[in-house]
This record gives sequence, C-alpha cells and structure tokens, in this order.
Amino acid sequence: MENSYSNIFTFNKKILSKTINILKNSGVAGLPTETVYGLGGNAYSKSSIKKIYKLKGRPKMNPLIIHYYDLKSAKKDIITNKNFDKLYKKFCPGPITFILKRNRNSKIHSIACAKLKTIAIRFPKNKIIRSILKKANFPLAMPSANKSTNVSPVSSIDVFEEFNKKLKFIVDGGKSKIGIESTVIDLTANPKILRPGIIDKKKIEKVLKIKIQTNKGKIKIISPGMMKKHYSPGIPVLINQKKYDGKSAFIYIGNKYKNKKNFFSLSKNFNLNAAASNLYKVFRIIKRKGYKKIQISKIPYSGVGIAINDRIEKASNF
Ligand code: TXA
Ligand code: MG
Repeated sequence: MENSYSNIFTFNKKILSKTINILKNSGVAGLPTETVYGLGGNAYSKSSIKKIYKLKGRPKMNPLIIHYYDLKSAKKDIITNKNFDKLYKKFCPGPITFILKRNRNSKIHSIACAKLKTIAIRFPKNKIIRSILKKANFPLAMPSANKSTNVSPVSSIDVFEEFNKKLKFIVDGGKSKIGIESTVIDLTANPKILRPGIIDKKKIEKVLKIKIQTNKGKIKIISPGMMKKHYSPGIPVLINQKKYDGKSAFIYIGNKYKNKKNFFSLSKNFNLNAAASNLYKVFRIIKRKGYKKIQISKIPYSGVGIAINDRIEKASNF
C-alpha cells in the first residue's frame, strides 16, 4: 500500500487477481478508465447490478453501459449494423458508447439495461481496465463511480469521496486522461448523439459520411444522462458569466487572470481537450476549498466545447 486509504489499491498482478475475484463473486469495484472512474460489476450477475444501483442511488430506469475487451466478446449480446462497424473500426477501444439492439440470447442481466430492448456498449482504452476485461470471462456493467447526479470522479480519491467506506475496493490508475464521460451515440436508427464527448459530431460524420442529429431542445428523454439535473458539484453553478461577483470561484479558459485568487483556468493555452480533462477536477478542488458558488465564463461552442457546455449547462441546473 502506498497511500493512506485502506480501500484504494495500486494496480499490479496481485491486485488484478484480487479484482477478478471480487467481480466474479458479485462484488463491485471502483475502476479507472480513460474517461472517468467507473463502478464496475459482473454484467451477468443480478446481485452485482443491484449493488451498483444501490450504491449510486441510481433510478432503476437508468440503464448501465456494458464494457467489453473487444468486439468478439460483445457479439453475442448485440445486433451490429454498418454504422457500428465503421465507428468501432475507427474509434475502438476508445471513449465512445454505442446504443444497439440487444441480442435476444444475451445473458446480460436485464436490469442492467433497465429492461430495454437496447444495450449500451463500450470498449474502454485505459490499460488497467483492459487487462481486467481481458482476464475476466464476463463483461462489466459500469456507470461512472459517483452518487447519482454528482460529478463523475477522475481520480481514485474522488471515488473514495463519493462512497467512503461503503465501497471496499478501489483500483488506483492515476488521473483519468480524458476527464469527461464517453460520447453516447444511438445507432438503433438514424445515428443520434445522446451525450456529446471528445469524439465529437464532426469526427463521427466524417467516418459515417452522413449528417447526424444532436439532441438539442425538446427531444424526449430516452437517455437518462440527458436528465436536466446531473453532473452537479453540489453548489450553484452560473454559466456564461462576464462579471466576477467578488466572492465565488470563477472558472475560465486562458491565462487572463493568471495567479489571481479565486480564478481557475481550465486550460492556459486555450486547449479544449485539456479544458474538458480539467473540468471535473477543478469542480472538486473548488468544492473542497469551501466556495459557495461557481461562476463560469463563456466556453466556445465548437468541437469538444460542445461536450463541455453540455456538462456545465447540466451542472447549472442545481
Ligand atoms: O465514460 C463513460 O461512459 C463512463 C465510464 C465509466 O465508462 N461511464 C458512464 O456511465 O458515464 P453512466 O452510467 O454514468 O452513463 C451512461 C449513460 C447514461 O446517460 C445512460 O442513461 C445511457 O448511458 N444509457 C445506457 N444505456 C442506454 C440505452 N439502452 N439507451 C439510451 N441510453 C442509455
Ligand atoms: Mg454518470
């Protein structure tokens, strides 16, 4: 053990075996991925899935993403199509989740999919989660490792902060590289982005060679991640702010307020990928420092900026 948390473990061969054992026996574990940390459980096991919903306080109608090592291991659970084949080839393993029709013979427990006829699948890229998925002979149901409506965790200590001693086993994999959740795309009919991420609309359109829809405005909620109150840091968040109020934490992009107290830059050199990666980390830093409110300046609405705006808009619905 290299840290002072009795339930956070540094990854090595022994911890890999221990993780597999816990998951095999229907336990749950906090696990790193390249996007955010997940709360993983055996997707075949009803009792694992129940534990996940319970720990998160997640409504039963909100389905989980099923994580696989590769396409071969996912095939028996899904009905593939051409768009999926193209996107898989281009982006997987990586930070993208596909909604597909579920295969009738799939052994994934139906409560993981909220009893829907569809299934959300993802092939994460992070090396630690890949070695776990490779060794386990079952896929992992794995939502982000936070209490329902909270901000997703991007470090093992963030996961600890969410569940304390209620979660017995967390694998440390350092800071999540991407820092926001995967892009979710519905491929059951005309492709539609349900949750924007760092694999953005333009990149997807380039591969599929078609224009795709994004959810904006009044579309019926089919992905509960689209619910308004979500990604909340637990204090009020005001977006598109121009004027500092003199007491809140102020988040911006760039270096205009360098070294100025209460000002937090998401990226000093205007890099939107870096800004996305720092967003939840900065939210948690601000919360820990005891600020009562967050102001965020306007974030450019293009590329990854669309995903950042999606998260901060939802965080502002506190
Ligand atoms: O980056 C990620 O995707 C992380 C890491 C841990 O892999 N996971 C994650 O899971 O963000 P979660 O449960 O926090 O978000 C999954 C989203 C939710 O918005 C859920 O409603 C949606 O995917 N979803 C799952 N199954 C679905 C389905 N069959 N149809 C539509 N949306 C679905
Ligand atoms: Mg989540």
